[in-house]
Amino acid sequence: MKFVNLWISLILYIFSRQEYCRELQFPSPGFYTFNVISCVMDAKAVLSCPPVLWPSVLVVTWEIVLREKPPCFRAYRRDTNQTTRGNCTDKRITWASRPDENPALQVDPVAITHDGNYTCQIITSDGNFHYEYHLQVLVPPEVTLVQTEGTAVCKAAAGKPAAQISWIPERDCVSEQKPYWGNGTVTVQSTCCWGGRHVIAVSCSVSHLTGNKSLSIELDKGVRTLGFPGSDFVIILCVKFSLLLVILVFVGFLYFQRTNDCR
Ligand SMILES: *[C@@H]1O[C@H](CO)[C@@H](O)[C@H](O)[C@H]1NC(C)=O
Ligand SMILES: *[C@@H]1O[C@H](CO)[C@@H](O)[C@H](O)[C@H]1NC(C)=O
Ligand SMILES: *[C@@H]1O[C@H](CO)[C@@H](O)[C@H](O)[C@H]1NC(C)=O
Ligand SMILES: *[C@@H]1O[C@H](CO)[C@@H](O)[C@H](O)[C@H]1NC(C)=O
Ligand SMILES: *[C@@H]1O[C@H](CO)[C@@H](O)[C@H](O)[C@H]1NC(C)=O
Repeated sequence: MKFVNLWISLILYIFSRQEYCRELQFPSPGFYTFNVISCVMDAKAVLSCPPVLWPSVLVVTWEIVLREKPPCFRAYRRDTNQTTRGNCTDKRITWASRPDENPALQVDPVAITHDGNYTCQIITSDGNFHYEYHLQVLVPPEVTLVQTEGTAVCKAAAGKPAAQISWIPERDCVSEQKPYWGNGTVTVQSTCCWGGRHVIAVSCSVSHLTGNKSLSIELDKGVRTLGFPGSDFVIILCVKFSLLLVILVFVGFLYFQRTNDCR
C-alpha cells in the first residue's frame, strides 16, 4: 500500500428543508374511501372528511390509530354543536378549522410518531361515510460518500423508509441495512472496492421517496460532484496523507468501521 499517495475524500450531502404532503386517493364502491398520504417530517398535514351535505350531518368522529398505541377518538355533534376532545392528547393533532364549518383534522408539525391510520366517519341522516387515511412519515436520509485507496463507502443515514443505493459504473457491492428500532428510520451503507481497476471516477446514486441524489468521486485523487439540485447543501472534504490522522480521529468511528468488509 502506498500510504504517501493516500487520498481521503468525503462528501456530506445535506438535504434542503422540504415540507410537503402528497396524497393518493383510492375510492371504493359505497361509502368508503382509502387515502395514502405521505408527509415529510415537520410538514403540516390536513386530512379532510368525506364531502357530504352539511345539514344531514349528525355526528363526525375521527379515530386515530398510531403504531403501538391504543386508538383515540375525537368527535363533533352537530345538533348540540359540541366537540369532544375524547382521549386524544397529542397537541399537534387538532381540528383544522371550526368543526361546525369543516371537520377536517390537522397534524402540525408531522412527527415521526404520527405514522398511522386516521379515519373520519360521518354519520348522516342518509347513511355513514368514511375516509380512511394511511399517514406515512418520510425522513430524508443524510448521504455521505467516502473513499480511501480504491474503496468507496456510500451511506444514506437515518432515512425513512430505507433508501436504495446503486453505483455507476455498475458493480456488485456489499450493502447493509441498520434499522433504528426506536423510530423506524434505517441507515443503508454500501461498500465498494475499485482497487486494481481502471476506473477514474465512480458515482453513488441514492434513491429515496423524498428525492434522488447522486454523488461522484474521483478515485484516489479528489472529488467532483454532479447531480445536485441547486438549493441543497454539500460539504466536500479532500485530505492528503498529512492530515489523515486528524481526520481519522474525527470521522474514523463513523465511516471506517466497515471498509474491511470489502470483497
Ligand atoms: C393501518 O391500516 C392498514 C391497512 O388496513 C394496516 O395494515 C396497518 O397495520 C394499520 N396501521 C396501524 C398503525 O394500525
Ligand atoms: C380511548 O378510548 C377508547 C374507547 O373508550 C379506548 O378503547 C382506547 O384505548 C382509549 N385510548 C387511549 C389512548 O386512552
Ligand atoms: C358552535 O359553537 C361555537 C363555539 O363553541 C360557535 O362559535 C359557533 O357559532 C357554533 N355554531 C353553530 C352553528 O351554532
Ligand atoms: C432516529 O433515531 C436515530 C438513532 O437514534 C437518530 O440518529 C435519528 O435522528 C432519529 N430520527 C428521527 C427523525 O427522530
Ligand atoms: C428516483 O429513482 C427511482 C429509481 O431509481 C425512480 O423510479 C424515481 O422516479 C426517481 N424519483 C425522482 C423524483 O426522480
